[in-house]
Amino acid sequence: MAQVLCHLPKFNDSNLIIGAETSDDAAVYRIDDEKALILTTDFFTPVVDDPYTFGQIAAANSLSDVYAMGGRPVTAMNIVCFPTCLPLDVLTEILKGGADKVAEAGAIVIGGHTVEDDVPKFGLSVMGMVHPEKIAANTGAKEGDYLILTKPLGIGIINTAIKADLADDELRSKAIFNMAYLNKDACEAMLEVGINGCTDITGFGLLGHAYELAEGSNVTIELWSDCLPILEESIDLAKMGIIPAGAYNNAKYLEGKISLSKEIEQHTVDIMYDPQTSGGLLISVSKDKHEALMEKLKQKNKCDFAVIGRVKNKSNYAIEVL
Ligand code: CO
Ligand code: CO
Repeated sequence: MAQVLCHLPKFNDSNLIIGAETSDDAAVYRIDDEKALILTTDFFTPVVDDPYTFGQIAAANSLSDVYAMGGRPVTAMNIVCFPTCLPLDVLTEILKGGADKVAEAGAIVIGGHTVEDDVPKFGLSVMGMVHPEKIAANTGAKEGDYLILTKPLGIGIINTAIKADLADDELRSKAIFNMAYLNKDACEAMLEVGINGCTDITGFGLLGHAYELAEGSNVTIELWSDCLPILEESIDLAKMGIIPAGAYNNAKYLEGKISLSKEIEQHTVDIMYDPQTSGGLLISVSKDKHEALMEKLKQKNKCDFAVIGRVKNKSNYAIEVL
């Protein structure tokens, strides 16, 4: 995205706290000393067959960028592309799934826009609020911090298996549970403890988003491959080569920027590059607060989570995986 954006005119406004320059999850605009708006938009093509579930997952994914900034979602607008050949009930179900997730987030749907398109797409443009001094940006990771990931990896691999009819109902519902689960609980936990930096893990995979966090914060991130929370079924699928094309694109983009220990097995590397749909938060928290955050997550967070690494002084690589 950065290559495209650099050819566009730059906007200057003293109230713009976070704009398009830092690959952050959302823009932040100051209203006054106590209030700032978080503005974000996201939409994609169906990841599951059931329209209501697709609506829930797409909404959870769009809301996540507000949580990744440490904010509270307030309003949401539907973004819809829909073909004329499909029955309108399908669209109703997608919007219902989306609206139910928005309600679960404590926000409201206030409108939206639909265009005709061959392939259905759905997502939200979300407005959230945050205190201007409590923004959880992807530029805030500090040397000595610990890194915590709040959802398990492997979703992209499992979605690929579902499309190829290689997943049973149990695995299907497990994947859906993780994708539709809001990052609200993880966000509340990190706000209660106080953290230094955050981003959410989506299409660029763990390594892609960790890379942005490392670059944005001018640090090196050390990841512990033994400690990653992983949906265990994705391990065998990865070994069978059931890997989405996006994982290879992510690996290509990050070539030369990551140092991988020779002992790490290929399937673990694939899982680290795997694009996630509505993945968890990657939180950078000071060492002395990380146990308190883990404790809060134990009370609130219903997906698997773990301490997965630490932040170091900048070295030759943005990321070192041990
Ligand atoms: Co994001
Ligand atoms: Co996004």
